[in-house]
Amino acid sequence: MQSKPALRHSSGHLHLRPEASLQPEPFIVSASEAMRNVLVLANRVAAGDAKVLVTGESGVGKDLVARYIHAKSTRAARDFVAVNCAAVPEPLLESELFGHARGSFTGAYRDKVGKLELAHGGTIFLDEVGEMSVRMQVLLLRFLENGEIQAVGAERASTRVDARVICATNRNLSEMVASGAFREDLLYRIQVAHLHVPPLRHRRDDIRALIEHTIERTGRHLCVSDEAMRALEGYRWPGNVRELQNVIEQLVWMASSDVVDVDDLPPVTRAEGRAALHVRERRRQMADDLYAELVSGNFSFWNQVYHLFLNRDITRHDVRELVRKGLVTTCGNYKALVKLFGMPGGDYKRFLNFIAAHDCSVHARSYRDGHGAEPLPVVSVTAAAADRSSRARGSGSSPQS
Ligand SMILES: Nc1ncnc2c1ncn2[C@@H]1O[C@H](COP(=O)(O)OP(=O)(O)OP(=O)(O)O)[C@@H](O)[C@H]1O
Ligand SMILES: [Mg+2]
Repeated sequence: MQSKPALRHSSGHLHLRPEASLQPEPFIVSASEAMRNVLVLANRVAAGDAKVLVTGESGVGKDLVARYIHAKSTRAARDFVAVNCAAVPEPLLESELFGHARGSFTGAYRDKVGKLELAHGGTIFLDEVGEMSVRMQVLLLRFLENGEIQAVGAERASTRVDARVICATNRNLSEMVASGAFREDLLYRIQVAHLHVPPLRHRRDDIRALIEHTIERTGRHLCVSDEAMRALEGYRWPGNVRELQNVIEQLVWMASSDVVDVDDLPPVTRAEGRAALHVRERRRQMADDLYAELVSGNFSFWNQVYHLFLNRDITRHDVRELVRKGLVTTCGNYKALVKLFGMPGGDYKRFLNFIAAHDCSVHARSYRDGHGAEPLPVVSVTAAAADRSSRARGSGSSPQS
């Protein structure tokens, strides 16, 4: 939908045009702790006006989160204007964002108002910001510094725009900065607050709820058998929520009965889902057995578990699963876990060194409140908070955290 431009005053300042109708708040499925954390942070940043960078793989819901922040903000009654920086060819992106004056290039038959100006009073969403050319990055940086826009072909900057800026990307912008493809100063400007939406395979608790939500939206009645649901929950979903929606919609419209069984699933989902399920169940069983033997005192960690691992009878995944079980019991306390597994307190360092050396460490922080193991999303609301959060993250990677 094309928005009408803000009203321009003779001084060149923009007046807010009458309020648009309130956009409904998008519904975000958040059955997993990781997604609930994303929403908590989204609500927190929505209360302020800080620039937000939303990152995550393709199809995880970055667009949805950006719309949610806008809908929860004090700008909700104004426009949310989205620009996909990857979809607009580079020569046209400047005009798309800043507008152009009539005659400024071939085909510019009349003045055109840019998207930044259209977002005055509201939110501008710069999607796929990592695809911007270096020249466009310079122009965007200039706008972020003073809020002024200069239309292509205009003699001077004429308008000051007040738009909340939300950017999104599925690229690793820090790596792009390191390779010189993205400006470091621009990255700092756009990620005053940073929200990372984890891939669906890292928040499997959302899968069932997303399937139910997608079926409900089609208005059809369809049940998914337990086995089919387990296979779908075990699948890796490389295309994330978008892929899930496509698979479920296809099932809904192709289903010959009211129940979807595992044989109705697309072959890749079925095969991978079943295999993953099998591996997870075996691993869980192994960890359960080792745990029971350790806490009952039948096994000693160093005499049995350690040797089973060195002899490759169990894998690092099994050890990690065992550590996870211990952390659940001890609410994220590694010292208590050492005791629980029957080791003397003096073995604490040796144990930590062992799990770190073999990549079996598990973040303790997410078990502190007694919940599951989803990694926390990252947020940095101010530069100082960014500092604090990166320090916290740094220490979080050590099991002692
Ligand atoms: N948590 C969620 N609850 C409900 N729907 C969701 C959720 N996450 C994503 N979706 C839906 O999945 C689809 C893809 O989401 P979206 O377009 O926001 O992803 P994206 O990260 O912006 O993807 P891309 O990187 O490809 O642009 C949309 O239809 C969106 O409504
Ligand atoms: Mg998107």
